[in-house]
Formats: sequence, C-alpha cells, structure tokens
Amino acid sequence: MPNADHDRMSAPSEPTILIDHTGPLEGRVRVPGAKNSVLKLMAAALLTDGTSEITNVPRIVDVQIMGELLTSIGLEVLEHDGAVTIRQTGTLLTEVPEAPARRIRASINLLGPLVGRCGHIRVALPGGDDFGTRPIDLHLAALESMGATCVITEGILEVHAEALHGADIQFAFPSVGATENVVTAAVVADGTTTIRGAAREPEVVDLCNFLLSMGAQISGIGTATLVVEGCSYTSFGDVTHRVVPDRIQAATYIAAVGSTGGCVDMIDARANDMGMFLRRCEEMGLVFEAFDDEATGLRVEARQRLNAVDIQTLPYPGVATDYKPLIVAMLAVANGTSIVTENLYPGRFRYVEELVTLGAQIRMWEHHAEVTGVPRLSGGSVRAHDIRAGAAMVVAGLASQGPTVISGVGHIDRGYDDLVGRLRSIGAMINRVD
Ligand code: EPU
Repeated sequence: MPNADHDRMSAPSEPTILIDHTGPLEGRVRVPGAKNSVLKLMAAALLTDGTSEITNVPRIVDVQIMGELLTSIGLEVLEHDGAVTIRQTGTLLTEVPEAPARRIRASINLLGPLVGRCGHIRVALPGGDDFGTRPIDLHLAALESMGATCVITEGILEVHAEALHGADIQFAFPSVGATENVVTAAVVADGTTTIRGAAREPEVVDLCNFLLSMGAQISGIGTATLVVEGCSYTSFGDVTHRVVPDRIQAATYIAAVGSTGGCVDMIDARANDMGMFLRRCEEMGLVFEAFDDEATGLRVEARQRLNAVDIQTLPYPGVATDYKPLIVAMLAVANGTSIVTENLYPGRFRYVEELVTLGAQIRMWEHHAEVTGVPRLSGGSVRAHDIRAGAAMVVAGLASQGPTVISGVGHIDRGYDDLVGRLRSIGAMINRVD
C-alpha cells in the first residue's frame, strides 16, 4: 500500500494502524469469542477445585492481564491454541496485585468469586476504558445485603464476609458487572438469592451457563429475575465451556461493510444476540442473511449508501453502548442527518472530535450527537481513546478518501483479536506498523 502520505503525516514511535481508501469488502471472517464474557469466566473459574477448560478464547491483551491476576492469587493459567485452562494450585490469595487490577475493568469480577469462596478481597478499584465515572455502588450494596462489609480507602476496596447469605436484591439499573458479581457470590452463599432487575446481556447468560456446567444452581437465565440456590464450592467440578461469540466484534465488521459497501460472511456471528442493533442497521439499508454451509453465521451486505437513522443506547436487549462509536462512524458517511443518544455513559463521546478530524460533521450537546453524513471522510491522523473508539477510527478510516493514521493502538489490542489481519483478509487496505 502507498506509504508516502503516511510518512508525511506521522513518524510513529508507538504502534500505529495505517489505512488507505478501501473499496467494497468481500469474503469471510470468523468472529472470535467475546472479551466481556471470557474475562468473567476466567474469574469465576476460581470457584471450583476442578479444572476449567475455556475455549474460543480471543487473543487479546485483557485476557493476558486477567491470566496474570489469576496467577498472582495462586491459580495455574495455561493459554494454548485459543483456549485457557485454569486450575487451583492449593493456595488461593485474596489480595489482588494493584497494577494489573487497575489496567482492566473486569478485575472487579474477582469480587464475587473471592468473597463468595474465601470471605475476603483486597483489590484496587478497576481501570479499563475512560469514559466518565463508572461507580460500583450497586455491586457493594448487593454484597452488603448478603452480609459483606465493604470499605474503600484511597482507591483500594476491601470486602469481608464471615459467611454470605442469600438475599432478595432489586437493582435500580441492570448493571452487567453488578449482576455478574452477585451471581458469582450467590452460587456459594447460604440459601437463596433472588436478583430482580438483573442484566440480560448475552455475556451474562454465558457466565450463568458456565456456572451451571460447574455445578451451580441458577434459574431465570436470560431474564430480568435470576434465582440462585447457594451450594458449597466443594460440590463444583470440572467445566468445559466455549465462549459466546463477540457481538461487538461482529458489529465492527458490519460497520466496516456499512461504510465501504460489499458483502461479508461473519462466521459464528449470532443474530439472536444482536437483534435491536441489526434492526437499526436494516433501517439504514444493510441486508442480513443467516448462512449454514461448512460454517454457520451471518452475512451482511451493503448495496447502496446507508440512510440516516436516530438511535439511542440502552441495556440489553436495547442497542448496546459499545456499538455506538461504530454506529456513529457508519452514520458519518450515511445519507442525511441522525441523532444518536447515549444513555449509559454520558461522557462516552470522546471519539467524536477524532471523527471530526477525519472530516465528519457532528454537533454535540449534552448526551446527544447530531451526525450529518458526508459521502466520504477525508482521512487524517487520529487517536484511539478506548477499545470501541479505536474500532470506530478504523471504520472511519476505511470510509475515508485519503490515508488515515491511528495511534493509541494499545486500546484496540485490549479487545480485538487481530482486527487488522481480519480486515485485510476481506479486502481492506489496512496495515499495522509496530
Ligand atoms: N452503574 C452504576 N453503579 C454500579 C454499576 C454501574 O451506577 O454499581 C452504571 C454505570 O455508571 C453505567 C451503567 O450503570 O452508567 C452500566 O454499567 P454496567 O455495570 O452495566 O457496565 P460494566 O459492567 O462496568 C460492561 C462492559 C462494558 C459495557 C457495559 C455496558 C465489561 C468488562 N465491560 O461494563 O464494555 O459498555 O457493560 O454494556 O464487561 C467495552 O467492552 O468496551 C466496554 C466498555
């Protein structure tokens, strides 16, 4: 690919992604396992004395960090051929090292399993994507109602529980992380826990199914009311589980096709997990068809320039906040003006100024963005500020006339398994420079 323009635009001292004008995308791409499931499954693996064999594991940095966290508290973690095997070594520590815990949001998912099994955790408040305050009050209030005591001092959370007991919990908001922490604590608490207003995301369902395979008792999976019967962790055994495919990565390939045109088969993509998002994409003009030949999955086709559509983010089954940067990147080259409203993280719009650098016409107020599509973006130098924002930069780069240089690639590596290679395999003019 021509590099002269890229050289003029940046002299990379950190990894960058370089993108040139890309025509329609064609071919097949496999959607890897979901980051937001595998990290929680790995944390929940500490509940059993048996062996956890987790397959369809994406090769991403966050999995390595979770592996490091588990190793440092006494588990054996082996990564091999897209799988992770986790075993106890005899000692389970409850003080989680601070530096890796601060690097990922999912470190907070050690809370439920460690307090449930060991009655204690000391862990730094979690890191992860920076798009405003991300409180954990719902996690803590629920654990307190189960008998735990929670104290936060200078950014370190310490939770004790002599013995957790079941409780009737009503969430004011269906928090994904809080639901996961309560479920992973409740499976080993004394008695029955009922969680009303539970999150219903496919990744929460995946975690519940993983726990069921381990021997836990949970009913109402996939609904807003989960009922968990506590058991002793000594009754839990080996578990083998395939991670649910990543709906946000699937959406990334959909957005890439939406902004460049073409037809791509996404092996393993599950339409059922993306219902509302796919409906909005159909309103924009994308066409979907399930396929089932030597592989199964979902075909996406863009036959013409997309139409503007108004969209707002909501908890599942609504359009997920994680799709939104991708949606805005698609709408930036659609025909007409769209209003996009963010209801989960009002501060999750940092990527907008980067899209504007690439020639997008976007006006912001409060938690809304008014996006007026242009036929093509211009290209330019931009930065990925978080995982999904990085993916949106890639989609916008594909939809640009001129070359695009993306820095902040480390964010993309946290959640995407070889995004560049997969896009190249379907015809994108994209390269990575390390
Ligand atoms: N909230 C509270 N109090 C709490 C917990 C959450 O007020 O105790 C609020 C949050 O401030 C936010 C909303 O509830 O406004 C949603 O938060 P939730 O707890 O559902 O999100 P999370 O568990 O922290 C996960 C994903 C995010 C994804 C959200 C929403 C992981 C590691 N992260 O975060 O994914 O955006 O659910 O679906 O699973 C990403 O993958 O790029 C990512 C950010």
